[in-house]
Amino acid sequence: MLSREENDILTRVGPGTPMGQFMREYWVPALLSSELPKPDCDPVRVMLLGERLIAFRDSAGRVGLIQNHCPHRGASLFYGRNEEGGLRCVYHGWKFDVAGRCLDMPNEPPESDFKHKLRARAYPCVERGGLVWAYLGPRATPPPLPEFEALALPEAERSNFASLVECNWLQALEGDIDTSHAGFLHWGGIAPEDVTPDTFLYWAVKDRAPRYEVVDTAYGVMYGAYRPAAQGYRYWRIAQFLCPFFTQTPEGVLGYHAVFKAWVPMDDHHTLAFSVRRRVLDALGNRQRFSVEGQSSKYPPVRAARLPNHTGWFGRFRSEANAENDYQIDRSRQRAGDYTGIPGIQTQDQAMTESMGPIYDRTEEHLAVSDVMIIRVRRRLLGALRRYETGEVPPGVDQPELYLTRSGGVVLPEGADWIAATDELRRPFTDHPERLERWV
Ligand code: FES
Ligand SMILES: [Fe+2]
Repeated sequence: MLSREENDILTRVGPGTPMGQFMREYWVPALLSSELPKPDCDPVRVMLLGERLIAFRDSAGRVGLIQNHCPHRGASLFYGRNEEGGLRCVYHGWKFDVAGRCLDMPNEPPESDFKHKLRARAYPCVERGGLVWAYLGPRATPPPLPEFEALALPEAERSNFASLVECNWLQALEGDIDTSHAGFLHWGGIAPEDVTPDTFLYWAVKDRAPRYEVVDTAYGVMYGAYRPAAQGYRYWRIAQFLCPFFTQTPEGVLGYHAVFKAWVPMDDHHTLAFSVRRRVLDALGNRQRFSVEGQSSKYPPVRAARLPNHTGWFGRFRSEANAENDYQIDRSRQRAGDYTGIPGIQTQDQAMTESMGPIYDRTEEHLAVSDVMIIRVRRRLLGALRRYETGEVPPGVDQPELYLTRSGGVVLPEGADWIAATDELRRPFTDHPERLERWV
């Protein structure tokens, strides 16, 4: 449970709020690069940390993220002409480049030098790993980008995904560090006898009450959730929260998989969840035996159908199953053993976190032992925020290498120190097929 004040501090992200300022110290994923497919393509409305912005790709391919309201008299630059190195407001023709410089003021007398004095608010953007990252913070020179392993993957080995979640960022993120819900919400319809024996999924559905160990780290918090595996062994799911809104999930095999997600607040009531992950390569395909996916014909699809994007502020990456249609819940399937009757893992998550309300009132909750990771992450964030307010640099901002860590599932002998035993497996850029063979 949080006090009302703590809940407000953690959930509000607009300009000038404590968490909003904290998050602005970091690079923030704003769009998929593919949303701006070519030079001079159509501009995109981007709501980011409570700010209305217009993204565009100029004639040279550079990405700009500029204030929505034209600095002249406030018409939306969304309607602008994206041409010859800048975005031109169609009201009076003022034109701005990706840095917010005014390039042209064609309705002013030629002798006017006003255009040199004016600057639109524009945020630096860089592209990495299929994402456009923006820096909305106070530094004249932005910090380095976080060095997630998945960002370094070549395009052919990487998959990028984005989805809109219509609720506050923190409850959406908390759903991703809450491993015990998977055994119900996602795998509730799967019995052990439906699953290939001695696989990750088999152990996960045999024991749906994992025990947690949780540790603070320099980047945030790491957990290991364990349950019995083969005689004398335990199946561990190891995953991370990384400041300020990143997670790494344990769905794959530790030592193979590279994945991270960013739970980016659009505003206090909308979140755009980005994921970047390594595609499972053919050479590793047979290792899927140890992944939770593909172990049972009853395993639900990860994603449900999407609606086409529209140009509104919240028109990007919407699920076809949403609150308007009760997430397409099928009560007959629910009764017949599908557990939720809601199609697709991602929609199941979305249904639960959105149904908590736009910002869940955490004074109402009753946290239990299985919520230990969520409790620790909130404490970690509140502590980091307090130190930030006394002048400390937020975790990871100047240490991009802290983000070089891996998540995933692993089998360890009972009694093994899970942190020491997985130290090497959590190091990116090396695969470890031999380790897994030995353990299982
Ligand atoms: S409002 Fe944009 S040029 Fe006048
Ligand atoms: Fe989930």
